[in-house]
Formats: sequence, structure tokens, C-alpha cells
Amino acid sequence: MVDLRTNYLGISLKNPLVVAASPLSGSINQIKQMEEAGASAVVLFSLFEEQLEQQSKGTAVSPTPPRAQPGNTQPDFPQMESYNLGVKGYLSHLYAAKKAVAIPIIGSLNGYYSSEWVQYAQLLEAAGADALELNIYYLPTNPRITSADLEKMCLELVASVKSGVKIPVAVKIGPYFSATAHMAQQIEKAGADGLVIFNRFYQPDIDLDTETAVSTLDLSHPQELRLRLRWAAILSSFLHIDLAITGGVHSGADVLKCLYAGAQTAMMASALLQNGIGHIQTTLTEMTTWLSNRGYTSVDDIRGKLSLIEAGDSAAFERANYMQVLAAQKHPFSHK
Ligand SMILES: Cc1cc2nc3c(=O)[nH]c(=O)nc-3n(C[C@H](O)[C@H](O)[C@H](O)COP(=O)(O)O)c2cc1C
Repeated sequence: MVDLRTNYLGISLKNPLVVAASPLSGSINQIKQMEEAGASAVVLFSLFEEQLEQQSKGTAVSPTPPRAQPGNTQPDFPQMESYNLGVKGYLSHLYAAKKAVAIPIIGSLNGYYSSEWVQYAQLLEAAGADALELNIYYLPTNPRITSADLEKMCLELVASVKSGVKIPVAVKIGPYFSATAHMAQQIEKAGADGLVIFNRFYQPDIDLDTETAVSTLDLSHPQELRLRLRWAAILSSFLHIDLAITGGVHSGADVLKCLYAGAQTAMMASALLQNGIGHIQTTLTEMTTWLSNRGYTSVDDIRGKLSLIEAGDSAAFERANYMQVLAAQKHPFSHK
């Protein structure tokens, strides 16, 4: 019997497989199915910053974004009060989810700047959330905003939410910081209990028939995991807080890779949307079978074995590998 128990954000989980934020957690019945299939925790879909601002103003969200930037076309914001149940609906859904299952429920706040975050973090805590995930989702399109401005904003947000709640707080970030390692360390210093890497940014396409930009939502591909594995291996070598990987986790093998790179947990959304909630069980069986076939008795036996510090060949995660990979390719001008 392999011991899959994992600690994440100071919470003891029965295994490392967590359901990532997605519409699947919009139904209490589905959350129950996730627990039955073996998920160790569920991150609820997010409550969006725009909903918080709208709630505090007591109005339906205006089509103008809160901090519209000069020169930008105005994005179409959905009527946020009905999207994702609204603030009150979100809190009662969280409360109902906590009543319905024994596994931890992680509430999610999504945005990049809001004075309301602390207050709503407290409401999520009061509704029973075992932990919070702050999804800092921002596309820096304004050339006047520097990376330092953005990082400061993000760190202030983390520190203020942390100072307002007792439950653990994980921060979900994107991969596009100039100095990801430094930023991750600053997030740790700001008080976060965990880091979730990485957000996927949904990229609009251009429809040539209608000559318009169209929003697209493509599910992930397992190849996307590699960026996360590399950064988990790097970050786990010096961070003291927990790491979760999200993006491209589709199978038991993928979860194992996350553990090798030093993550505490692996989060899954696309694979469940594609294959159904029963895929959780398949994933756990794949993991357990692989571990026991190799003679491992617990997930701790492999965790971090290929982090930058532990891996004998750390170059695989660094620039040296770039040279090796290029050198290994047959050069088009080679005479050999
Ligand atoms: C349809 C859909 C809705 C999502 N909604 C949220 C959300 O509300 N909040 C959030 O932080 N992430 C959300 N995500 C991102 C996922 O939590 C996850 O980080 C991302 O999809 C990468 O994981 P995957 O490769 O397993 O899909 C959503 C993803 C999908 C596909």
C-alpha cells in the first residue's frame, strides 16, 4: 500500500491530486463526485474582482472596466452579478460545499487590484473555506506601468489579504514575470503559504470571416506541463512555502512528474472537463501502480528528487541544457 498523504498549506491531504478552479465546482453534486473519485481537495471557481467592486457599488457591472486604460478598446465585461452566482451566491455555494464533503474546499479570488479583497477574503473564511487561492490575473498592456509597479501591487495585495485572515493563502501567478524566482521569493516574504504555478492566459484569436477578435478557451495540453516542471524544480530549491502545479496535468504520470520537481500538489481542470470526474480515480490508480511497481512506499520518497538542488544533472533545467539540446540536433549545414 502506497502512502499518498501530502501536506499542502499546512493542511493534511489524503493525496496530492487537487481539483483546480473550474466550472466543475459550480455544482455541489459534482463536488461530491470529486470526493468520491478520490480528489484530496477542491479549489472552487473564482469570485472575480469585478464582482467585488460591483457588489460594493451596489450596481450591475458597467461595461467600462474599473481602470480603463487609454488607447485600449473597451472589453465586454459579462454581467458579473449573474456570472458565477454573484458574491452572495458564491458564499452560500462555498458554505454548502463545506457541508456536503469532508475534503478541504479552497475559495478562489481572481483579479489584480482591489481594496475589497481583504473584506471578501474574510467572508470566504467565515463561509468555511479551508484556505484561499488568490489568482493574480493581469495582462500589463499599459506601457506606463512598470514591472516594479506591478510587482508592488501584487505583493501589497498578498500581504493585506494575509493580514486579514487566519486561513492559509496560496497565490496563483502567471509565468511572465521578468524575474520569476525573485518574485516568488517576494511572495513568500509577503506571507503567502503557497504558490500555484502557473495561470494559463486565454488568448483571443482573429476570425478572418468576421474580421473580429474572438475569445477562445482551449483546454490545456500535457506539453504545457514542462514549463511548470522546470519552474517547480527551480523554485522548490529555495522556497520554503508549498508549491502546487496547475497547467497540463492530465495523467498519473503527470502528477508523479510534479512531485519529482518538488511540488506538494498537482491540480487538474482540463483533463476532468475532457474525460469526466471519474478521471480522478484513473489518475490515482496510475500513480499508485507506478509507485508500488518501483517499490516506493510513499509520495515523499520521490518528492523533490529532481528539484534543481537534488537533481544530479541540474543543467537540464538551466541554460546549459539549451546548448546541449541544440548540439544534439542534426545541423542542416553539417557535412557529417
Ligand atoms: C473552463 C475553465 C474555467 C476556469 N476557471 C477558473 C477560475 O474561475 N479561476 C481560476 O483561478 N482558474 C480557472 N481556470 C484555470 C484552471 O484552474 C487551471 O489553472 C488551468 O486550466 C490549468 O490547468 P489544466 O491544464 O488542468 O486545465 C479555469 C480553467 C478552465 C478550463
